Amino acid sequence: MSLLKKSRLLLLKLTVVLGSLWILPLLIRPQTGWDPTYTLRYSWLEYTDADSSPEKACNCTAIMRGEREAIDQAKILSITKDFRKSVHIPDEYYINATQDCRKFKISRKYLTFPLSQEEEDFPLAYSMVVHHKVQNFERLLRAIYAPQNIYCVHVDKKAKASVVSAITAITSCFPNVFMVNQSLTVIYGAWPRVQADLNCMADLYNSTTKWKYFMNLCGQDFPLKTNLEIVRMLRWLKGKNSLESEKLPEEKKWRVKISHQIVDGKIQGTGRAKEQPPFNLPILVGNAYIVVNRGYIRSVLEDKRIHALIEWAKDTYSPDEFLWATIQRIPGVPGSTWPNHKYDVTDINAIARLVKWQWHEGPQGSLGAVYPACHGNHVRQICVYGAGDLQWMLEQHHLFANKFDIDKDPIAVYCLEKYLRQKALAPLHKMY
Ligand SMILES: *[C@@H]1O[C@H](CO)[C@@H](O)[C@H](O)[C@H]1NC(C)=O
Ligand SMILES: *[C@@H]1O[C@H](CO)[C@@H](O)[C@H](O)[C@H]1NC(C)=O
Ligand SMILES: *[C@@H]1O[C@H](CO)[C@@H](O)[C@H](O)[C@H]1NC(C)=O
Ligand SMILES: *[C@@H]1O[C@H](CO)[C@@H](O)[C@H](O)[C@H]1NC(C)=O
Repeated sequence: MSLLKKSRLLLLKLTVVLGSLWILPLLIRPQTGWDPTYTLRYSWLEYTDADSSPEKACNCTAIMRGEREAIDQAKILSITKDFRKSVHIPDEYYINATQDCRKFKISRKYLTFPLSQEEEDFPLAYSMVVHHKVQNFERLLRAIYAPQNIYCVHVDKKAKASVVSAITAITSCFPNVFMVNQSLTVIYGAWPRVQADLNCMADLYNSTTKWKYFMNLCGQDFPLKTNLEIVRMLRWLKGKNSLESEKLPEEKKWRVKISHQIVDGKIQGTGRAKEQPPFNLPILVGNAYIVVNRGYIRSVLEDKRIHALIEWAKDTYSPDEFLWATIQRIPGVPGSTWPNHKYDVTDINAIARLVKWQWHEGPQGSLGAVYPACHGNHVRQICVYGAGDLQWMLEQHHLFANKFDIDKDPIAVYCLEKYLRQKALAPLHKMY
């Protein structure tokens, strides 16, 4: 065994001992199939009912299997005022709790060591663009956090002071999680949404971590896969990118044909026609969320054609929905494909993001439907997932899904995070 491995193992044991001291009451409580060595080693990292989250009133096993009764019970609970109130964690909690980072990380059960060599050898970079709902952000960070990865967080300049303080406090507990150098006021449908990701891309590319793939998230995303599963799916891409990139439909062409500007915090058309895109680049449509290799990001930061495209796109409507999709089809960009429409990729085929649009929902087998009806509720025609959506979601290949909202359905996030953590730790239990 190499010295590095030995010292890591020692560190790991030490972490386990410290962790298990904290969770001592758990060890005394026998469970079915209880094995003292097993419990000592890793169980303290599982999310259990002993964490005293109010969501434990639900039966996640039954919910994940799609059992009607359990899903209905979760639904009733999630619309109960008192229950919602008991789940909510105020921003002030995070500001206070992160004053002792070590304690914070242990009590919130952050992973402090890579779970496998395979993951350690394949570091990932994340850009996270957030403007509210600190609890959502923290649960998301905890779900995707691994010490070998790197995370850039962009908090909207117009976010509440307590949101900025809480998120800054959380990031300061981790050497590999940082706030973006320059934060902006993000306006729906306008350029700054793209610039926020660009700022994070620059900072991430500038870091010493030689990450392999880049993914961008918002505060209401949640993973559907463990870090190991994400790494394996990315390796399987063999350097290709995976994002929606399709023909721009006729009814959306005005977005790039008319110049726009921001007036009183809202985007509006100026009535002036825009010039053709630079280098006659074909404009394709996709969405804001991408899974791309390091070379794609290098191109975004350094390729002169892309610089020209970026300048040209700054006064378009919703550039986040076509910029990445268009870059994905520029010849020479690492992991890209040809512009020919035979290479078009839909959001369903790409692995970047699972989103349920209201108008695509319908019963299985119906010709118009893309996915089953939403079990939660809709915000701007996007499904905010309920616990009843989980079983179907986990059958999909996407790495992440949007949208989750702990204020609307805390049980969906609770069952998902618990499931993923259990899955992530399972190989470790078998190792010894
Ligand atoms: C939870 O649901 C599973 C599956 O239906 C069932 O086997 C188990 O007994 C339930 N647990 C509790 C505590 O009700
Ligand atoms: C802040 O945290 C400390 C311990 O970490 C705790 O004793 C105290 O009650 C907390 N204060 C508030 C206002 O939550
Ligand atoms: C970002 O800020 C850090 C700390 O202030 C600095 O070390 C780094 O050089 C900056 N990076 C860029 C790309 O400006
Ligand atoms: C990071 O950014 C700084 C400031 O812009 C620059 O001087 C430095 O060379 C960059 N480092 C890397 C590794 O790119």
